Amino acid sequence: MTGKDGILSGKVSLITGSSSGIGAAAARVFAREGSAVVLTARREDRLAALVKELRQAGADAEYVVADVIRADDMRRAVEFTVERFGRLDAAFNNAGYAVGRTPLHLMDDEVYDPIMDTNVRGLFNCLRPEISTMLESGNGGAIVNTSSVGGLVASPVAAPYVASKHAVIGLTKAAAAEYGGQGIRVNAIAPGTTRSELVEEWYAQNPEIEKELHRTTPQPRTAEPEETAEAAAWLCSDRSSYVTGATLPVDGGFTAL
Ligand SMILES: NC(=O)c1ccc[n+]([C@@H]2O[C@H](COP(=O)([O-])OP(=O)(O)OC[C@H]3O[C@@H](n4cnc5c(N)ncnc54)[C@H](OP(=O)(O)O)[C@@H]3O)[C@@H](O)[C@H]2O)c1
Repeated sequence: MTGKDGILSGKVSLITGSSSGIGAAAARVFAREGSAVVLTARREDRLAALVKELRQAGADAEYVVADVIRADDMRRAVEFTVERFGRLDAAFNNAGYAVGRTPLHLMDDEVYDPIMDTNVRGLFNCLRPEISTMLESGNGGAIVNTSSVGGLVASPVAAPYVASKHAVIGLTKAAAAEYGGQGIRVNAIAPGTTRSELVEEWYAQNPEIEKELHRTTPQPRTAEPEETAEAAAWLCSDRSSYVTGATLPVDGGFTAL
């Protein structure tokens, strides 16, 4: 563990969607880089196991079970962070949801609503208490939101997901524009296909998709979640001090083509 020499040394970070995948990898990277971390998601067993692992490695780690769709939950998570660690320096708003691979004209509300509720309203629910807390502290802060390559370019049979991840970039720019003067930086990352339980399942069901994705990516492989988490850690750190309103693709060059 890097700890006190890390790029997030002495900071306090909140990470949503940290029970698995990119968020769990971020919990490990942020802690290794010296941040105290508060993890949030809905699956308590996963959060508890990860917090135990991080504490055993010497990190300050806590968790709050919270659903991003519920504004009160996210307010409570931010309040808990301030009560426990005294402030909030950084937030990685990473919780997200994707379902269905259906042509747009056949999609029903049951597909559209949970995607938009989680990815757009959920982010809005995170940003409000995080920004309020950072404004109250007077010390500014750094926020990183997880969009997707689907927030930069379209992909077929995923219309609500594509719309929701474009909205993540819109919210990121809006917040960056509003709060830059108060020292709050707001950026997004746009991951390409990144190894997660859902992606492994998807590949297992459609072996051709993995090959096709690699064929259309200059770095012809699937990202590991840690690679994506490293980008979020840098954007949350003071090393990126004049970067705001930006979206950083972490996609092996997929959107460069
Ligand atoms: N993997 C990829 O290829 C890829 C590519 C581009 C973008 N992304 C984005 O990366 C982010 C992380 O995804 P992942 O790939 O790491 O998949 P994942 O393992 O499924 O992670 C999703 C995380 O979001 C949490 N979450 C979902 N709905 C939530 C809700 N209503 N309230 C609170 N937490 C919620 C999940 O936790 P609980 O279920 O415990 O609540 C989980 O921790 C998402 O925003 C996703 O859209 C992923």
